[in-house]
Amino acid sequence: MIKFRNDYLKSFITEAEIAAIQPEITTAHNTLHNRTGPGNDFTGWLDLPKGMEAQLERIAQVGQRIAGLCDTLIVIGVGGSYLGARAALEFIRGKNYNAFAEGTPTVHFVGTDLCPDTIVDLLNLCRDKSVCLCVVSKSGGTTEPAVAFRIFRQFMEEKYGAAATERIYTITDEKNGSLRALTTQRGYTSFVIPGDVGGRFSVLSPVGLLPLAAAGVDIKAIIGGAQAAKADFADASIQNNDCYRYAAARNILYRRGLTTEIMAFYDPSLAMFAEWWKQLFGESEGKGGQGIFPASVCFTTDLHSLGQYVQDGKRNLFETVLSVTQPFTDIAVPHEGGGDGLDFLSGKSLHHINTTAMEATAEAHVGGGVPNIILEVGKRDAYHLGYAAYFFQLACGVSAYTLGVNPFDQPGVEEYKKAMFRLLGKPE
Ligand code: PA5
Repeated sequence: MIKFRNDYLKSFITEAEIAAIQPEITTAHNTLHNRTGPGNDFTGWLDLPKGMEAQLERIAQVGQRIAGLCDTLIVIGVGGSYLGARAALEFIRGKNYNAFAEGTPTVHFVGTDLCPDTIVDLLNLCRDKSVCLCVVSKSGGTTEPAVAFRIFRQFMEEKYGAAATERIYTITDEKNGSLRALTTQRGYTSFVIPGDVGGRFSVLSPVGLLPLAAAGVDIKAIIGGAQAAKADFADASIQNNDCYRYAAARNILYRRGLTTEIMAFYDPSLAMFAEWWKQLFGESEGKGGQGIFPASVCFTTDLHSLGQYVQDGKRNLFETVLSVTQPFTDIAVPHEGGGDGLDFLSGKSLHHINTTAMEATAEAHVGGGVPNIILEVGKRDAYHLGYAAYFFQLACGVSAYTLGVNPFDQPGVEEYKKAMFRLLGKPE
């Protein structure tokens, strides 16, 4: 479940404003679900939880096989072929997953940049490990992961010889691209990224699910959460739909000149989820001179760095706070009676203190003119990850159509590539 709280928003947005935007939200909902809008050939993610039973079995089996083969899984991919898996892994297993992975491989992500030190460090780490690769690229030709794969492919072939083949898994387009061609030529085990699912909407496909299955995550629970979200948000009425309440609120605030949305969270294991969310909204909405700029902060940490700006800087901000209501563990501040001035906290649980900090910060930021949307997520588990992924994907599709842009293309991403290829002398 995700619960939308408007107690720190209602002084900025009236129910009348929500009612006034309802027709636009209804139109966006119909455009998305009837697949009549721009980019409608990339709306396969709407159905992803449906009909995946057979495929889920195979993903779970191959995930188990990977877990049995290696102690170190290298996932190669970038953007939508990277962020979902990493966000989900840290959301569910925590940001220190690798330190506690027992019986499942540690998971490292590469191919996200072109930094030589990063790749060489990881190669060195892999030398005395038992390694598998999971290579993810829909186009099959994106420079960062393609370069990383060439380097790691050579490493694997030197380390394992012909047996490297059974340790390399690919996820790519069914027919097109050089990764599909290599997969066929070398006989790698492979999964398909559906043609009608774009990268940033692919976390509930093999792109997200295979690395998670290898890390021992219950992928059926993820899909169960996504299915529940799909059912919960089928009604276009904002009154009955917290997902659309979120989409409506952010559009109302944007039209008022609040052009930056900051996702704030009080659990560092949500940091990569916020990165996934930033790509989802940034790449879907930021086009044609429009769009809310998505930023993120980890509180209370960043209250000691960015808190000043949020409280008191340029007033073009609103915050969306992702609040986990039930942590897996808790700990009380010890009774001590020492001289550290903390006796007022003795015996209080850290979760209570963290939640109080969240409420206090929202109150202060609202006082500073920053509207706060609070989205409460029950737990950081597989079910809630699936639920949250579907919630934000749906909110993004409806938001972008309400804004009047195609949520499913990314024409601007090509510009840096053209310049880079020209400078690197890529043949035309
Ligand atoms: O969301 C997107 O479409 C992009 O972020 C892509 O996922 C990213 O550029 C990687 O592309 P590919 O999967 O083709 O390597």
